[in-house]
Amino acid sequence: MFRIAQISDTHLSDEKPFFVDNFARVGEALRQDRPDLVLNSGDITLDGASNEADMAAARLLHDGLDLPMRFLPGNHDLGDSQDAPDHGEGPIDALRRRRYVSYFGPDWWWFDVPGWRVLGLNAQLLGSDLPEAEEQEETIVDVAASVGSRRLALFLHKPLFDRTVDESEITGRFVNPVPRRLLMASLVGVTPALISCGHVHQYRASETFATRHVWATSTAFVIPDHRQPRYGLKEVGYVEHRLYPDGRHESALVRVPGLPTLDIAHFPQVYGPV
Ligand SMILES: [Fe+2]
Ligand SMILES: [Fe+2]
Repeated sequence: MFRIAQISDTHLSDEKPFFVDNFARVGEALRQDRPDLVLNSGDITLDGASNEADMAAARLLHDGLDLPMRFLPGNHDLGDSQDAPDHGEGPIDALRRRRYVSYFGPDWWWFDVPGWRVLGLNAQLLGSDLPEAEEQEETIVDVAASVGSRRLALFLHKPLFDRTVDESEITGRFVNPVPRRLLMASLVGVTPALISCGHVHQYRASETFATRHVWATSTAFVIPDHRQPRYGLKEVGYVEHRLYPDGRHESALVRVPGLPTLDIAHFPQVYGPV
């Protein structure tokens, strides 16, 4: 059995260290638990997209855990998808992407464990006109085409959709309709058994057809109801995924004792008043 501890939306910074204590508490829990892999599914930094110091600080904090680690970028780490409504962090560009890679390694990757292939994607490249968007797409096709009898687990920062694959809204919250269709087409008929994301700062687990969709919550903060609907649980923590060699899998929210669920409305100095 392979155990992935998915942390997400850590929003780390030295200059604005409001969420570092929560990260440290989660880190202590992870060091006790010793999963096979810790995966940060994006918004690693508070504002790494425009402040390189946040990248350096976040990398250092993760290195301090001394656990096997992989990273995926979020909109706050390298800018948002070009087709997303502007959130203030501006769109992904070549420089921001390169800078992210220099701190956190490849922005898309895959590996195999018994019974499973695990694929991580850069969600902000979906719908982008950067040349790397096409490279990532080619990787998805190759990885799906050669999956064989393994089951596929897909990780990316943003949820694919709220309820159904054919939703048409353009939002900053989900992968937008055109890149979503492109991603599904790139999977060449392979249906992921598990798709897990972050970004919404809520925990939710739901099923569509043969796929379990899991939204990992933030380790740091939640967003108040007047600004963001409730889709699931507005509670901080992390998610443990268990992938069994026979193809079974389990995902669950892990609550860390003493970890406060912070509300971003109480931190106007972070992203402005909510
Ligand atoms: Fe976030
Ligand atoms: Fe995000």
